[in-house]
Amino acid sequence: MNKYKFSDDFVWGVATSAYQIEGAARADGRGESIWDEFCRIPGKVVNGESGDVACDHYHRLEEDLDLMADLGIKAYRFSIAWPRIQPDGKGAFNEKGLAFYERLVDGLLKRGMQPFATLYHWDLPLTLQQTQQGWESRDTAYRFVEYARKIGRVFGDRVASIATHNEPWCTAWLGNATGYFAPGNESLKKAAHVAHHLLLSHGLALQALRADGVTAPLGIVLNQSPAHGATDSPEDQAAASLEYAKFVRWYMDPLFKGRYPNEALQWYGDNGPQDVIRDGDFDIIGTPMDFLGINYYTRIYASASGPKRPPGEFGFTDMDWEVYPQGLTELLTQLNADYDLPPIFITENGCATKDVLENGQVQDDDRIEFYDRHLAALADAVKQGVDVAGYFAWSLMDNFEWASGYDKRFGMVHVDYATQQRTLKDSALWYRDAIARHALRANTMET
Ligand code: FCB
Repeated sequence: MNKYKFSDDFVWGVATSAYQIEGAARADGRGESIWDEFCRIPGKVVNGESGDVACDHYHRLEEDLDLMADLGIKAYRFSIAWPRIQPDGKGAFNEKGLAFYERLVDGLLKRGMQPFATLYHWDLPLTLQQTQQGWESRDTAYRFVEYARKIGRVFGDRVASIATHNEPWCTAWLGNATGYFAPGNESLKKAAHVAHHLLLSHGLALQALRADGVTAPLGIVLNQSPAHGATDSPEDQAAASLEYAKFVRWYMDPLFKGRYPNEALQWYGDNGPQDVIRDGDFDIIGTPMDFLGINYYTRIYASASGPKRPPGEFGFTDMDWEVYPQGLTELLTQLNADYDLPPIFITENGCATKDVLENGQVQDDDRIEFYDRHLAALADAVKQGVDVAGYFAWSLMDNFEWASGYDKRFGMVHVDYATQQRTLKDSALWYRDAIARHALRANTMET
């Protein structure tokens, strides 16, 4: 009996996001986003790169859809660029932008693949940032709802699911506390306010889409990790608990328990969300979801005395993130114990590796091993009773990795940015095989 055999209806997918692959930054009436602006600030992105051209997916849609179909992909998770749909984030909608996603969604359906749409993967219309400080403003949540409703009206009966936000922690924290991502603010208070408005916009959008009769399952995508202390000392254990509260519970508790975690609230102190929370907000934020998307990359390794390098039993990726597959099992079983959850999708999981294209081949064995181990860890969680309905590999193809530019390659398809040529890496061939067999490699299958 094969230990890691997945059920026949398990959803095997790949994921991407708009700004990371589409390019065509000025085509067909697309407005600018905060990432277009951010990329122009010297020193923010490696080599001063941007998503202006990226994988030119906007112009190569049919070719990329064929590629996915060839791999036997069952579902494709993509994001919709708000600035293509509504260039200023308010006011007129842009039919040409909508037409691109019509071609994408219909192209997927025609090839037998399920479209999993994400409404917001970080590309806020720049006008909303410039005129009302973006997500710092409560009004931006209402602008988001207007955009979401438009998508619901056009695509609500054709897509397999709609996620409101991708990784609100990144938008809030990396965008506003550390300044590592757009819009580049460095203020704890802004990060807390932004996080609250993101959560609020999620709940408001869910309510509006349901009221509009949208039938697609609705949810959100969170990046999550278990947190471990570097040692057993009470100080390191407390540091881990606090990091978990700031990273995971800050989103999970409002969504499923109607409050922020006290531990993290105390840490925020005067810089917390208190000034922007209004009566009734938690009822809105807690609107029941049909699914929860989880992106998993690594664990948090916490120490009271500052950053410590984790042991890295399975090595580190090219992002220098520790490979820690067992963390996925731990995270899923822990969440399942702590919250009353809807079905879960792993909406992203993957790694950057130093790939070399040689004689038409990329031997990315490390990536295969990464996927294989993580899918095995997922299967372990399923065996322990967690309801996981599908898995999306990050990513279909190499793309613009935000502040890391094009230097970090996450794809199972190699992209030569000079020619835009796509080449299947060995991991793509492995994934095709895993999908066909609903099973993993032999070496992780022994009991
Ligand atoms: C996630 C993002 C995704 C990609 C991966 C590597 O945090 O959602 O866009 O950059 O990391």
